[in-house]
Amino acid sequence: MTHSDTFPIGIFDSGYGGLTILDAIRRRLPEYSYLYLGDNARAPYGIRSFDEIYRFTLEAMRFLFDRGCRLVILACNTASAKALRSIQQKDLPKIDSSRRVLGVIRPTVEQLGGLTSDGRIGLFATPGTVASGSYDIEIAKLYPSFRLYSHACPSWVEIVEAGKADSDIADEAVKTDVEALFAIEPTIDTIILGCTHYPLLLDKVEEHVAGRAKVVTQGQLVAESLADYLRRHPEIAERCRRDGDVEFLTTGPAERFDENASLFLGHEVAAKHCEF
Ligand code: DGL
Repeated sequence: MTHSDTFPIGIFDSGYGGLTILDAIRRRLPEYSYLYLGDNARAPYGIRSFDEIYRFTLEAMRFLFDRGCRLVILACNTASAKALRSIQQKDLPKIDSSRRVLGVIRPTVEQLGGLTSDGRIGLFATPGTVASGSYDIEIAKLYPSFRLYSHACPSWVEIVEAGKADSDIADEAVKTDVEALFAIEPTIDTIILGCTHYPLLLDKVEEHVAGRAKVVTQGQLVAESLADYLRRHPEIAERCRRDGDVEFLTTGPAERFDENASLFLGHEVAAKHCEF
């Protein structure tokens, strides 16, 4: 197979959050090539309307398809909650039914059985994800006896996008939201960080949870699920390019992306600005 017959795997997020997923996927599947797209100019998505999130996500998918991606991971819970189903069922059949878009909510929920001890699950997510009820629906399907207690954290994404994950403002916001979740249900034993931006606040979340519950991030779960998907779909896997490269695109200023992304990833990146 020549270079032009193969394609990078697309990874999309509203901004920097998907980097936490990309990082875990690259650790698990380092041989593949990836094209990361952050819509930083329009982040955060989590406080936007259903219509906007769907429209922006569909535009991003079309853009990545035009760049050759045949498989895209929506590394964003808000877009997975609000846009994935419509894109899979309504848009892909019209655009090209051989293209695939996968989300992050289902792979996360699938693993809960092995993580919780008594089925009392907490969720931190964006207002959009919480309002969508997507986690409630998936949990009810897979683990009907579990109980989900959700708390929306409207400020966390903005804090991360502003590069302030280590600030006192971040600390105060996390402390307030952790206490608000335990006020709903003090016996929660497992907390899902159901927004891909939130792992950047993991240290602070763990500090304030202070051992009361296990805190679960999504990167490894999504990476494992992608590895399994590629194993089950050799016809797609064999068309994925394998030169270990990663290209970064952002709708925001490239220099700003480089600065923040390298902090998150721990190595230099050189993004290109794009518009769609
Ligand atoms: N990182 C995203 C998520 O997982 C989106 C956050 C946002 O843009 O509000 O929900």
